[in-house]
Amino acid sequence: MRKPLIAGNWKMNKTVAQATELVEGLLAGVGQPQDREVLVCPPFTALHAVGWLIKGSPIMLGAQNLYPRDSGAYTGEVSARMLLEAGCSHVIIGHSERRGYFGESDEFANQKVKATLGAGLKVILCVGESRQQREAGQAERIVTDQVRRCLADLIAEDMAEVVIAYEPIWAIGTALTARPEDAEEMHACIRSLLGELFSEQVAEAMRILYGGSVKPGNIDDLMVQPDIDGALVGGASLEAQSFLRIIHFEWITIG
Ligand code: PGA
Repeated sequence: MRKPLIAGNWKMNKTVAQATELVEGLLAGVGQPQDREVLVCPPFTALHAVGWLIKGSPIMLGAQNLYPRDSGAYTGEVSARMLLEAGCSHVIIGHSERRGYFGESDEFANQKVKATLGAGLKVILCVGESRQQREAGQAERIVTDQVRRCLADLIAEDMAEVVIAYEPIWAIGTALTARPEDAEEMHACIRSLLGELFSEQVAEAMRILYGGSVKPGNIDDLMVQPDIDGALVGGASLEAQSFLRIIHFEWITIG
C-alpha cells in the first residue's frame, strides 16, 4: 500500500511573515494523519522560518529547486547540502515552470536528481506534456521520454527516494484539471515504464502524484484512481483552509 503524499508548491509566493501565518494555520488543522504524508515547499527565503515552525509536526519541508554542485562560484544558486541543513527532506525537480521559463532540460534535471539523492534528500520529479503535444497525440511519448532521461543512470535502490509528479502543463494554474480517468491512464503508463526501467516491485512501491489545478472540489475524485498516490498543489496550497481540505481528502471506494 502506497502512502499518499500531499505536497504544496508555493512557487514564488509568501514573505516570511506570510509563510508563518500560513503554516500556523496548517498546524492548527493538520492533526496527526497516519495514512498520508504532508509536505510544504516554500521559497528559499522562508525555508528556515517554516522549518522551525513545523519541527515535531507531521508537516515536512521541501525546496523548489537546487543547483547540482556542492559549492562554488555559482552566483544565485543553492546546493543540496544547504537545503538539508535548512531542514528540507525533499526537492522539487523538473517543474514545467523551470523547463519553460528557464530553459531547463531533462539532462539538467537528471544532474539535479543525482545531486539531491547524493545529499540524502528525496526527489519530487515533475513531468508533463503541453496542450499542443496532447492534441497531437504525443502525450505518452513526451512524458515517458522525460521520465527515462531524468532518471538516467539511476538504480532500483534510488527509487525508494523518488516520487514522480505528473503535471500536464495545460492544467497548471489554469483551473483545467485533467479528468481523473485521463490522469489515471498516464499514471498507469508511467508505472509500467518504471517497471521496465527498474522492476515490478519498484514500480508498485513508487508514488506518482498528480498536479495541475488540484482543488478542494476535485481531490477526492482524483484520489479514487488506483495509480494516483497524492497531489502536488500550487495555487490551492497558498491558503490554509483549502490546503487542509486537500490534505484531509476522503477515501471514496468505487462500486
Ligand atoms: P496549480 O500548480 O495547482 O496552481 O495548478 C501545480 C504545480 O505547478 O505544481
